[in-house]
Amino acid sequence: MPELRLERVGKFYKGMPAVVEIEYVFQKGIYGLLGANGAGKTTLLRMISGLLRPDSGRILCNHQEISRMGGEYRRMLGYLPQEFGYYPNFTLWRYMRYLAELKAVPPELAEERIEELLEHTGLKEVKKERMKDLSGGMIRRAGIAQSLLNHPDILILDEPTAGLDPRERIRFRNFIRSLGRERIVILSSHIVSDIEYLTDEILLMKSGRLAAGGSLKQICETVRGKIWEILADAEAAERLNQEFVVSSMKNLDDGRVCVRIVSEQKPAEHAVWAEPELEDVFLYQMMC
Ligand SMILES: Nc1ncnc2c1ncn2[C@@H]1O[C@H](COP(=O)(O)OP(=O)(O)OP(=O)(O)O)[C@@H](O)[C@H]1O
Ligand SMILES: [Mg+2]
Repeated sequence: MPELRLERVGKFYKGMPAVVEIEYVFQKGIYGLLGANGAGKTTLLRMISGLLRPDSGRILCNHQEISRMGGEYRRMLGYLPQEFGYYPNFTLWRYMRYLAELKAVPPELAEERIEELLEHTGLKEVKKERMKDLSGGMIRRAGIAQSLLNHPDILILDEPTAGLDPRERIRFRNFIRSLGRERIVILSSHIVSDIEYLTDEILLMKSGRLAAGGSLKQICETVRGKIWEILADAEAAERLNQEFVVSSMKNLDDGRVCVRIVSEQKPAEHAVWAEPELEDVFLYQMMC
């Protein structure tokens, strides 16, 4: 099984830092990059995929720099870009055949592999449709199917669940989970619940930096004591919402509101500590 090691990896665009000195070690399992728009997720994933050279630091696969591994690294890798091109008039089947050829999948194995992947991604019924006639969610799934053609040891998925409807997302989560049993999967998402459910470890990115990294439990521990709940009437709840960083407001049956607040200090006399969740950590890192 491969090990991927990031050593102080950084990238600048026109002098502006997009990724700043990221250090992390990936082994078998699913890793989730969580961060706001522009946090540097895609830039980091492109560097890990070998498409973009870091301006500083190194990326090592089994102690070898990936930039020196060439085809050997590419053969280990599957990549779903955030946005990817395809020939709109190709049928899905032809698209998969074409990519299998590009990835040098032996022709005698390609058809069986494509059938298997279309089955797993729920696309078998539409294999004769043209790419331009598929829904956004189906295109996303086709993108994941192609990333798996070469049985990659390292799978990079940039926003794999973007554009999927809730039913597709849930079915798909289970498929992605199964992929992490035998390889390194690194995925990015804005969707906190996807990251929460899918990943073994979370890398929370803020302005290009790694703000927090570790298991869900470890990450949540970083904000313990900073998450509060207050029962308030509607008017007081609105005041709290304006004054503090509020992660949720739940209307109770008795007309009161349970306000969940992320704050270093106790926000009110009758506030009580609450068990931290990933959404709270995300808000804390983004706002506090
Ligand atoms: N090709 C580029 N040229 C110049 N700046 C870029 C380029 N690509 C990204 N950036 C900048 O680098 C920073 C990180 O962008 P990146 O796309 O990696 O973020 P992201 O976390 O993937 O965002 P999103 O959630 O919107 O996909 C942003 O400030 C972005 O504007
Ligand atoms: Mg991105």
